[in-house]
Formats: sequence, structure tokens, C-alpha cells
Amino acid sequence: MQDKAVIAVLGGTGKEGGGLALRWAHKGHGVIVGSRTAERAQEAADAMNETLGGHGVKGMANPDAAAAADIVVLAVPYAAQQSTVREVAEVLKGKILIDVTVPLVPPKVSRVHLHEGGSAVEAVQTLLGEEVKVVSAFQNISAHHLTKLDEEIECDVLVCADDAAAADTVVDLAQEIGLRAWNAGPLCNSVVAEGLTSVLIALNRRYKVPGSGIRITGV
Ligand SMILES: NC(=O)c1ccc[n+]([C@@H]2O[C@H](COP(=O)([O-])OP(=O)(O)OC[C@H]3O[C@@H](n4cnc5c(N)ncnc54)[C@H](OP(=O)(O)O)[C@@H]3O)[C@@H](O)[C@H]2O)c1
Repeated sequence: MQDKAVIAVLGGTGKEGGGLALRWAHKGHGVIVGSRTAERAQEAADAMNETLGGHGVKGMANPDAAAAADIVVLAVPYAAQQSTVREVAEVLKGKILIDVTVPLVPPKVSRVHLHEGGSAVEAVQTLLGEEVKVVSAFQNISAHHLTKLDEEIECDVLVCADDAAAADTVVDLAQEIGLRAWNAGPLCNSVVAEGLTSVLIALNRRYKVPGSGIRITGV
């Protein structure tokens, strides 16, 4: 692996994945925006390059993006989580997959919905098997804040993984883009981060704010 990992963001045309992609590109990572269509991916990549005044962001169809990267981020809606993972499963072998999916069930997104049988990300790990190191992170970071590159984001990142070294890598990647991040234990603990997002959405609505967050204290 080079000094800075090349990161593919599947669903990087969207709000959350696009914000993460922009921040990593801003910090000098090679970034590949993934999409169901190469054209949409390229459009999003062009827009990011224009924002950053560079050309470090590329656009590709999801499977090509996953194949070309060192680390892959999954940033698609819950309903598309499993199908998107199946499409790229072969090329993920030996890599870290960072899953940001929240198991929201529209329209009641401010009510906690738990994936049947545990956290949504554990089902992804089961689907992919041990050859892929699946890490859960960023579920509580509102996309609203990510595109404001100079803004300090007042929300910590809970990173959960069964592979401690993979979790550390993702903690480092979060810190690189200005976030406080913690290794919050095994993948099963992600059920709390996944559920917490609906609590934050409820807070956003109640207090009329765009992106409430959480802080871990006492560490
Ligand atoms: N938005 C937030 O503030 C936020 C915060 C934390 C976590 N998250 C989580 O991050 C994930 C992405 O959220 P988002 O708000 O960025 O979502 P989004 O903008 O609605 O969707 C992201 C991308 O997913 C792809 N996509 C949409 N429907 C799909 C389908 N049926 N099959 C395959 N791909 C599909 C689209 O890319 P293409 O059309 O280009 O393929 C889209 O641009 C979600 O799981 C969400 O819960 C979001």
C-alpha cells in the first residue's frame, strides 16, 4: 500500500459518501467515487475536483471502484446495502470495507429500527466472510457538516470491528479528516451506533438543527 491509501466510496454520489470522499481527497488521498453508473460517478468526481482545485478524484462504476482501491467505503441506503455488497464481494477480498449504513426504514427515520438478528453491519460481515475486514463507522456524522471543509464537526465517531488493526486504521482515517474517533469494540456493538442515528434525527427535528452529534467524555 502507498503512503496514503486509495479510498473508493460506493454511493459516493450521495450526501454522506460524497462528503467523506471530499474530505479524504482534500487530505491528499486518491479517492474513487463509485456509483451504479460510471457517468454519474464521473460527474460527482468532476464536481469534487472543481471544489478542491485538483484532479485526485476519479469516478467509476461501483465494482471497478472497489477493485481499484485499497480501502472501500459503503455509503448507500439500507435497502441497497446487501445488493451493493454482493456486486463487489469478489474484489473486496483482502481489503477493509467501511460500512456507514444506518438501518433506517423510511418514512419513520426518527424511530430506532434494528436489523433483524443484530447490527446491519454484522450481516455484511457474514455475507463477505473472514477474507474481508468489515468495519462500522461514521453512522452518527451528519452529511450536512462534511462538505464544510473548515468546520469542526462536534460529533465523535464510534468505530466497531472484530479486527482491532482494521479498527485502528479507520480511527486514523477519521482523525485525518478532523473527526474525533474511538475504537468502540467488536462489530456487534455497532447496533448502538446504528440505532443512535435515529435518536439524533429525532433531536434534529425537535430542536430544529441540521446535524446534532455525540461526544464521548472521560477517556
Ligand atoms: N445523510 C446523512 O447525513 C447520513 C449520516 C450518517 C449515515 N448515513 C448513511 O449513509 C448511507 C448513505 O446515505 P446518503 O444520505 O448519502 O444516501 P443517498 O444520498 O440517498 O444515497 C447515496 C447513494 O446511494 C446510491 N443508491 C441509492 N439508491 C440505491 C439503490 N437502490 N441501489 C444501489 N445504490 C443506490 C446512489 O448512488 P448512484 O445512484 O450514483 O448509484 C446514491 O447517490 C445510508 O445508509 C445512510 O443511512 C447518512
